[in-house]
Amino acid sequence: MAYQTLLVETKERIATVTINRPEKLNALNAQAKAELRQAFDAIAVDPSAGVVVITGGGEKAFVAGTDIGELTALTRASGEEFSAGGQKLFDRIERLGKPVIAAINGYALGGGCELALACHIRIASEKARFGQPELNLGIIPGYGGTQRLVRLIGRGRATEMILSGAQIDAAEALRIGLVNKVFPHAELMSRVMQLAGAIASMSEVAVRLALQAILATEEATLSAGEAIEAKLFGECCASEDFREGTRAFLEKRKPVFTHR
Ligand code: COA
Repeated sequence: MAYQTLLVETKERIATVTINRPEKLNALNAQAKAELRQAFDAIAVDPSAGVVVITGGGEKAFVAGTDIGELTALTRASGEEFSAGGQKLFDRIERLGKPVIAAINGYALGGGCELALACHIRIASEKARFGQPELNLGIIPGYGGTQRLVRLIGRGRATEMILSGAQIDAAEALRIGLVNKVFPHAELMSRVMQLAGAIASMSEVAVRLALQAILATEEATLSAGEAIEAKLFGECCASEDFREGTRAFLEKRKPVFTHR
């Protein structure tokens, strides 16, 4: 599929999605959002893609937010729709059924920070900067940011980031748990690919069910979550990969999982 705003490439079970509007710091316009939806829908059913990496084109930005030029005509009704549409897109990414790693190579502001929040793992370059500057525009984060940022870094820190609109650097993002790891800029993609490769070699079934169990914490009480975990654990035990994984351990060899 040819996209105008994205580059998508799948190699060795890793699909890399690059948001590619570097002249606008990869700001998400309507077309980029529509293409992201198409790309993730295609990746969801692509048996050759086990893990997804998402990053930004050019040298400066991951994504510098939603395209501000497209905000100006919004009304109460269309604004609500606009926000719900972005939420739906990022929910699609979070609920893809395959792990999505954000390789944050520069500015991750507004919708860019929210996109990173919807990914399962966030790895940043030392050049990355994070912020929710929406209040400067007279709006609030609308692509799930008020919900996911609080869950990830806690209410106090999230409130400060959202109300101040201030940017934080990669070291601070690491300190407060907004990202998992920070690497020198030149190493970012090789480090991310190393992690993606390690995950891609795991049992596809177990990876999918682990993500499903982890996501259940968002909606479920502890006891309901544990019931879901037990059910998914049982589902793993019915898989060929479970037999291979346990057998390989006992035979002192590396497991060979079957990937579609
Ligand atoms: N929407 C639309 N265009 C954007 C954009 C956005 N979110 N972020 C950057 N751009 C555009 C700029 O308008 C500029 O376009 P131009 O060359 O046609 O004038 C181009 O990208 C380069 O950005 P510029 O501002 O010149 O780069 P900079 O290095 O001076 O500043 C930022 C970088 C990220 C600090 C600055 O671009 C910025 O504040 N962007 C908006 C961030 C934001 O508020 N995001 C939340 C939106 S809800």
